[in-house]
Amino acid sequence: MAHDELSEVDSTSGSSAVDTRDRASAGTAVAGSDFQNPGEPPHRLRVTDTDPKANKRAQRQVYTMFYLSIAGSIFAIAAYMAFPIEDGSTEALRLNTLFIGLGSALALFGIGLAAVHWGKALMADKEGIDIRHPVQGSAETRERAVEIFKEADEESGFGRRTLIRNSLIGALLAFPLPGIVLFRGLAPQNENPVELLSHTMWKKGTRLTLDPTGAPVKASDVTIGSVFHIIPEGLNEEHDRLEQKAKAAVLLMRLNPADLNISPGRENWSYQGIVAYSKICTHVGCPVALYEQQTHHLLCPCHQSTFDVKNEAAVIFGPAKRPLPQLPIEVDAEGYLVAQSDFHEPVGPSFWERS
Ligand code: FES
Repeated sequence: MAHDELSEVDSTSGSSAVDTRDRASAGTAVAGSDFQNPGEPPHRLRVTDTDPKANKRAQRQVYTMFYLSIAGSIFAIAAYMAFPIEDGSTEALRLNTLFIGLGSALALFGIGLAAVHWGKALMADKEGIDIRHPVQGSAETRERAVEIFKEADEESGFGRRTLIRNSLIGALLAFPLPGIVLFRGLAPQNENPVELLSHTMWKKGTRLTLDPTGAPVKASDVTIGSVFHIIPEGLNEEHDRLEQKAKAAVLLMRLNPADLNISPGRENWSYQGIVAYSKICTHVGCPVALYEQQTHHLLCPCHQSTFDVKNEAAVIFGPAKRPLPQLPIEVDAEGYLVAQSDFHEPVGPSFWERS
């Protein structure tokens, strides 16, 4: 068929197929039939094939790494017991994750390294050639496969016994449901998760304090171009401070008031160009911690959502779908920055009950 098409083209263009190939530019020409297979380069023996001492040394290295992996696993278990997570203690959490992480890393690294070294240095080093075969099986093979399916269907009664078949499908569909329902256990018990997600520790008069020291911040401390990581006053004394911080963390910045585009109703939410926005990304909740001073953009390092502080933290890039919620602030009698109220909307990622 291809030959026929080629002949047809030849007759209309008046040129031969060979002529066309000859004119093909370098790099696009199709290799002719005189192509010589260069073959395999000569096989080179490894040092472990020729030197018994090197071979022994490689064996020792491999099993030592496997033993190190075992030690890492035991270390991770011991760390889990030795450094339990205590409610609200960042130090305990840090030690727990650090040592379990180190142990697990050693365990995985040891297995990986040992397996690679074993394969490269000790396993048989033979070069072989596998000729490519068509992926599709022969007609006979395919016919036999269909036969096997039919036999299996006949013998199992899968197609015939519809009640059993349908109940099996129902059981398989129902099987994952308990796992989905168990997700409910991740939410706090006996409390309405929607309510919990909708409110933070901020309320009228709560001072803005530095994270992590808890020192209150005066408006005069916040110079133009500066940015502060803020937590509500008293957060460090809360028993569930990590949960509270995950919702209440705030970024405080001061801009030239003339640079701020403020929508109606928010005129008094800032103080002389000082604005406070939730630090929790509205995409999936990473801390938005990168402030670009010149452009007044906040960047979330997780998936690069970018928020424009000049325009009420509107999303200008990335997967986040809504602006960072703004915390209305004012100054108390002593000049400290305080919240006027809680956020006016839930912080963090959207969830379907969010109002
Ligand atoms: S969590 Fe911030 S961009 Fe995804």
